[in-house]
Amino acid sequence: MNAAELKQKFVNFFVSHGHVEIPSAPIVPENDPTTLFISAGMHPLVSYLLGQPHPLGKRLVNVQKCIRTGDIDDIGDNRHHTFFEMLGNWSLGDYFKDDMIPWSFEFLTKILNINPNDLHITCFVGDENSPKDEESAGLWKITGIPSNHIHFMPKEDNWWGPAGVTGPCGPDTEMFLDTKPELPEVEFEEGCKAERYVEIWNDVFMQFNKDSNGKYEPLKQTNVDTGMGVERTTAILSGFSDNYMSSIWQPIIKKIEEISNKNYVGVNHDSPSLQEESETKSIRIIADHIRASVFMIAAGVEPSNKERGYVLRRLIRRSIREGKKLGIESNFTVIIANAVLDNQNNFAGNYPELNLNKDKLLISLETEENKFRKTLDNGLKEIQKLIDKNKNVSGKEAFTLYESFGFPVEMVVEELKKYNLALDIEEFNAAKEEHQQQSRTLSAGKFKSGLADHSEIATKYHTATHLLHAALRQVLGEHVQQSGSNITEERMRFDFSHGDKLTESQIKEIEDLVNAKINEKLPVICQTMKFTEAQKEGALAFFGTKYPKTVTVYTIGDIGNYFSKEVCTGPHISNTSELGHFKIIKEESAASGKRRIYAIFIVF
Ligand code: SER
Repeated sequence: MNAAELKQKFVNFFVSHGHVEIPSAPIVPENDPTTLFISAGMHPLVSYLLGQPHPLGKRLVNVQKCIRTGDIDDIGDNRHHTFFEMLGNWSLGDYFKDDMIPWSFEFLTKILNINPNDLHITCFVGDENSPKDEESAGLWKITGIPSNHIHFMPKEDNWWGPAGVTGPCGPDTEMFLDTKPELPEVEFEEGCKAERYVEIWNDVFMQFNKDSNGKYEPLKQTNVDTGMGVERTTAILSGFSDNYMSSIWQPIIKKIEEISNKNYVGVNHDSPSLQEESETKSIRIIADHIRASVFMIAAGVEPSNKERGYVLRRLIRRSIREGKKLGIESNFTVIIANAVLDNQNNFAGNYPELNLNKDKLLISLETEENKFRKTLDNGLKEIQKLIDKNKNVSGKEAFTLYESFGFPVEMVVEELKKYNLALDIEEFNAAKEEHQQQSRTLSAGKFKSGLADHSEIATKYHTATHLLHAALRQVLGEHVQQSGSNITEERMRFDFSHGDKLTESQIKEIEDLVNAKINEKLPVICQTMKFTEAQKEGALAFFGTKYPKTVTVYTIGDIGNYFSKEVCTGPHISNTSELGHFKIIKEESAASGKRRIYAIFIVF
């Protein structure tokens, strides 16, 4: 089965059970400005899981493009991907376990024709916040799953969310497939470790909202959130325990084999040599990273040293380093990107942004590759200098080369070998570990401020971005378009299209206008309407984004005589009087033709 067939089956099944298909949200979140990438199908739906009515109803299904950058360095095994597609269905306060579990069983065994005896199920064992999930286990037994195939597991395994620090979460039940049913059964955990029992679907029963004090409050509504990885399921249904063997990846893998003259040996292969294993890993990394890069650039991300751009840069540069390991010395990222673009029918979803941005994304890759190859040349010169000066390169120096030039440590080792020198790899590893510790602390902070942050302060700043957007358009002109925003508990940041630096009097005028609207105590009205109608009414929307047919629109002021109107998923406060005094603290250039404003509330 290929990915498109799997998606069709999944969507049709849930549509036949009253669900509405919604489009995949962009991988760069639009209305959750505090996180880098969409990482699960539920992620763009957080407001609705918390109780806001969704314009298309209570039963939704889709395929969502996702990016997970948790530990990019883990990529290279047979089943992790930076970019992947996730099938999901949702009940927004509608059905719950007693519908979802029989449907899961029916879909797996009747639609995907999986032998029920090959299924293993895990359920939550219970803790002080939530009881043992006997209900789910009981429902699985009714479908016919024998008790010895139902396993109770702790929170680390059978609890999902919140996606950030706060938000909806709950126990889940996970479905595993025995990929070697012909062999005698083994202990469940052993089977998982040996990758014999492989997870293919996750049903999350969202019953709680975890608040910022770490308390689990029952949600206003109980939801279902499920997720099925397209890459893994497609591979397994085609008999591969290595995701990269499926039709989704093979055209890309073939291209890499062709240009490197190396062979990909999947895990099904008998006893590959160490050399073959390492080459296979490099091939996987290149395929994964370039595919993810293609989607990031198509979503508007450019390689840089900050945030999303930095993630992208690391992906491209790591691909090139892996290419070097395979002996590829000339530019190749564009060739691989073309293999991704030429095989779009292997995706489960349709992504028109890929063709729309094709030229731009190929140029961006080529430019970054040229830059990095130059960097590598400079790194080699640096090594030469160190050898001339100190007769060696220390582990710390090798780490600096790695960190600031992205210069691979293997290449330092190779260079040193030419002089019969050896690198103190322990010193290198210690320096790297220390650095990783620091960035883990940093990214934990980032995560905390962000993902699905629906705290009161974030919500206030979110409404303020709408006021600022409208004020900028009124003062500077209608060419102003929001191009991004970012909110922390301390401040908001807002990027927009505008050529010139703002004058002091313009800044004052904008501030005064926002504060006037706050003092006017304007209502913030949420309405559901057709996207075309929203456009007719003048609601602002992100240019080039694919919106669902029906959307929510937030109006600030009177419906007929409004100050601001934007297509947005929320959440927002309900009256501008809830906001404090608004102050712009900085105005600067964000990129050519783009300005950036930092603003705060002086009092809340
Ligand atoms: N959110 C859950 C997951 O990512 C189910 O969709 O697995």
